[in-house]
Amino acid sequence: MPRSTSLFPLLLLLLPPLASGLGLRAAGGRRPECGPCRPEHCPAPARCPAPAIAARDECGCCARCLGAEGASCGGRAGARCAPGLVCASRAAGAAPEGTGVCVCAQRGAVCGSDGRSYPSVCALRLRARYMPRAHPGHLHKARDGPCEFAPMVVIPPRSVHNVTGAQVYLSCEVRAVPTPVITWRKVTQSPEGTQVLEDLPGDHVNIAVQVRGGPSDHEATAWILINPLRKEDEGVYLCHSANAVGEAESHSTVTVMDLSKYKVPRFPAPDDRM
Ligand SMILES: *[C@@H]1O[C@H](CO)[C@@H](O)[C@H](O)[C@H]1NC(C)=O
Repeated sequence: MPRSTSLFPLLLLLLPPLASGLGLRAAGGRRPECGPCRPEHCPAPARCPAPAIAARDECGCCARCLGAEGASCGGRAGARCAPGLVCASRAAGAAPEGTGVCVCAQRGAVCGSDGRSYPSVCALRLRARYMPRAHPGHLHKARDGPCEFAPMVVIPPRSVHNVTGAQVYLSCEVRAVPTPVITWRKVTQSPEGTQVLEDLPGDHVNIAVQVRGGPSDHEATAWILINPLRKEDEGVYLCHSANAVGEAESHSTVTVMDLSKYKVPRFPAPDDRM
């Protein structure tokens, strides 16, 4: 049931320069278009996700929630964003014409005093107000950027079995802040019988190592490709990751069946699935 005055806020929103040019906005005081406040005509008040974003409408009459991060703003209803947030325009076609989205005025992830990372300082403040008992007044920004943590292997390399001449690869996905550096090593035995870690690819012409960031933020993925596989490539491969905070390691084994030993007549070819 629209109030008789509801067209005025719409005009003010769509045509702010025109509206102010016409002097529709009262200097400093109450907007003339608001009319008397009749709380019984207000829509049922919504429960705001945090007390801090509860507010009154433009006329100071009806209770409403200010937009949290990601909420729509502007538009016909003239929805506003909570303190610390700004109404940013979004890609055309993504939402009704003229509506924006509330984004944190201060961009970038932050690390909270609880040791958790928050996508923005606004998300941290919302959490601090939403759960006052859990961290009574103590949840605050510890530093800009996400909290640092030592590497964690998200997807370890799988062990593989194959035949000589085949092409095999191992992959290793690691998460850490700062983003980790990943290297591959092979565990070999020295002639004296002690274990030696050999950095790969080393001088192996049949081994290639590739590293890239991702797939998610603060992740890196490393692959090792062995082609063609030889009997001497058999063994334990280590995916080693490190950053300023710590390091992590994960291993897998490559088992090679030497086909050349089975070159006897009538033996099935490798294509025939042994
Ligand atoms: C062995 O490697 C080939 C590629 O060279 C692959 O097609 C095949 O699936 C692999 N076999 C096993 C058992 O992984």
